[in-house]
Amino acid sequence: MKVDSAGSPQVVKPACPEYPMQEKSPAKDGTAGRLSFVLILFFAINLMWHGLQAREDTAKMAVPPNLIINVDHRSTVSLNGKWQVIIDPYENGYYDYRYMPSKNGYFKNTKPRNKTELIEYDFDKSDSLNVPGDWNSQQDRLFFYEGTIWYKKSFDYQIKPNTRVFVYFGAANYHSIVYLNGQKLGEHVGGFTPFNFEITRLVREKDNFLIVKVDNKRLREGIPTVNTDWWNYGGLTRRVELIEVPETFIREYFIQLKSRQATACLPSQGGSLKTVAGWIQLDGKQTSQTITVEIPKADVKQTFKTNADGYVEFEFDAELQLWSPENPRLYDVIIESQTDSLSDSIGFRSIETEGSKILLNGKPIFLRGVCIHEQAPKSKARAYSKEHAETLLGWAKEMNCNFVRLAHYPHNEYMPRTADRLGMLVWSEIPVYWTIIWENESTLKNALSQLTEMITRDKNRASVILWSMANETPVGNARNEFLRALVERAKSLDPTRLITAAMEKSYEGGNKPVINDPFGRYVDVLGCNEYIGWYEGLPDRCDLYTWKTIYNKPVIISEFGGGALGGYHADKDTRWSEEYQEYLYEKQMKMLEKIPFLAGTSPWILTDFMSPRRPLPQIQDYWNRKGLISDKGEKKKAFYVMQRFYEKLKSFDPAQDRQAEQ
Ligand code: GCU
Repeated sequence: MKVDSAGSPQVVKPACPEYPMQEKSPAKDGTAGRLSFVLILFFAINLMWHGLQAREDTAKMAVPPNLIINVDHRSTVSLNGKWQVIIDPYENGYYDYRYMPSKNGYFKNTKPRNKTELIEYDFDKSDSLNVPGDWNSQQDRLFFYEGTIWYKKSFDYQIKPNTRVFVYFGAANYHSIVYLNGQKLGEHVGGFTPFNFEITRLVREKDNFLIVKVDNKRLREGIPTVNTDWWNYGGLTRRVELIEVPETFIREYFIQLKSRQATACLPSQGGSLKTVAGWIQLDGKQTSQTITVEIPKADVKQTFKTNADGYVEFEFDAELQLWSPENPRLYDVIIESQTDSLSDSIGFRSIETEGSKILLNGKPIFLRGVCIHEQAPKSKARAYSKEHAETLLGWAKEMNCNFVRLAHYPHNEYMPRTADRLGMLVWSEIPVYWTIIWENESTLKNALSQLTEMITRDKNRASVILWSMANETPVGNARNEFLRALVERAKSLDPTRLITAAMEKSYEGGNKPVINDPFGRYVDVLGCNEYIGWYEGLPDRCDLYTWKTIYNKPVIISEFGGGALGGYHADKDTRWSEEYQEYLYEKQMKMLEKIPFLAGTSPWILTDFMSPRRPLPQIQDYWNRKGLISDKGEKKKAFYVMQRFYEKLKSFDPAQDRQAEQ
């Protein structure tokens, strides 16, 4: 990947203009006002200068090293299955009694050499856990466990000539330290994005031991921070693989239609529905190579040369069937270098906005969506498999959806890949959720790193149309600046997709909800969460509301809904009954379809999901019950309200209709 002088990945140079002063700290009254205004101005400039400095330094530090993409199409050896584990709440395997990192920690996997030697742990006599999988749902004693667990996997490995080997983790929540044969490979922070380390020089034929210290302790300065409405599942939650590649291999590439549209912070790239643009990054010594990009079914075969950094950018025209929910056409794309060859199945589509409309392949589209948490269907566990993805997205299809909001963190890779195949548009988000420590530089670095990993992994997925920067974050200078830095990063990595965030409304007078979050100026699509009829009054309140926005941009109502215990029936005024939820949805639909600038909806949420914030006995029992499908996989009455509403929209798309009116 090409990087600029500051070391940031550089595809294009976005520039998000400053927030207008009045949105910093307005001065209200006379001379005192003027004096405080000058003082504020002085501080603001100071803050800006230091903020800019901090942002530059942070941006420089936040590039995750050498993430390998498209693991599915590479030669791999799975390390999934049973791993030995040691539950270590006091991190005794890492720190000595002086709370100093110990040289002889559990990562050494030491065995007593004779009857006198004192070793107080033994992986091979310890318990085991399944990988991939969270630990909380695997053992009752780990249900609430937050802390460190050590994982060990022993394996033999047949070393191949001219081959490099990497160990790849789909994700591990939250802070992982990885060792091979007693040597530290590296660390990773963030529970929802992949990472890999090279082990070519460390791996041996016999008795390798791979040890991972996984710690899911919640941290105030973390991303997410300490308070979330989802279960803090810990462990090696996604697949672990050995990846085998040639000495110089195709590590990363970006191949999509060139975007046409000027978006927030970025001028038009001057693309078209025929122009394919992208880049390829080799990794290894043989950097200057000839590379071909072939799309056999579109009669495309293009040849390029990489530069001394093993990097090439390209552009070419092609006659392609464009990907859409109705026609999720994927093409086999083959990238061939002199030392490596890799294929991928890629769809080509354009995604843009025009005023309050979202355009897919140049045509207005209404996003008929639903939110999804990474909750395995009918299970207390976190989802991780292709089958989980097919079930969840299959249910969304059954609800007549063409769009899913994957909340509040990047889901496993099977989700966007299955969405590519099924024809489901995707909103993908990083867990900048609620009240993050905005002023903390390492928090920004962490967010930038998770954002970069999310985009790096999924930027070739046609289904993914929206990168979401945050969910329900409080308006404020530090927050605004934090989120603006994320937009710049996202745009610099991917000029082809739309930026959004789930924001909150405010009010202009009693019943006039208005969308006017200052961060709205930097997104392409406004997401707005609302719980009218659940946290805010009763369902009938929906009738009173007329919505407004200060932006000429598309709006997605990215959350709405209420709870119901599956199978509990009563009258429509009884909370937790399916009838209450059903009535709430009917009222919501009537309110929402009146919003002229509405471009999509994604009710909260497809299925019930585990949350430590939901203890209500015999109703919640640590489940958030806002699912349209219960934890047993049963559809609730409100599911059919949405199914019917989306069926109606399928036959006449309001976005198209509004287009026709013009
Ligand atoms: C919030 C939040 C969700 C949460 C939901 C709820 O808006 O974004 O993460 O689960 O509301 O209260 O159920």
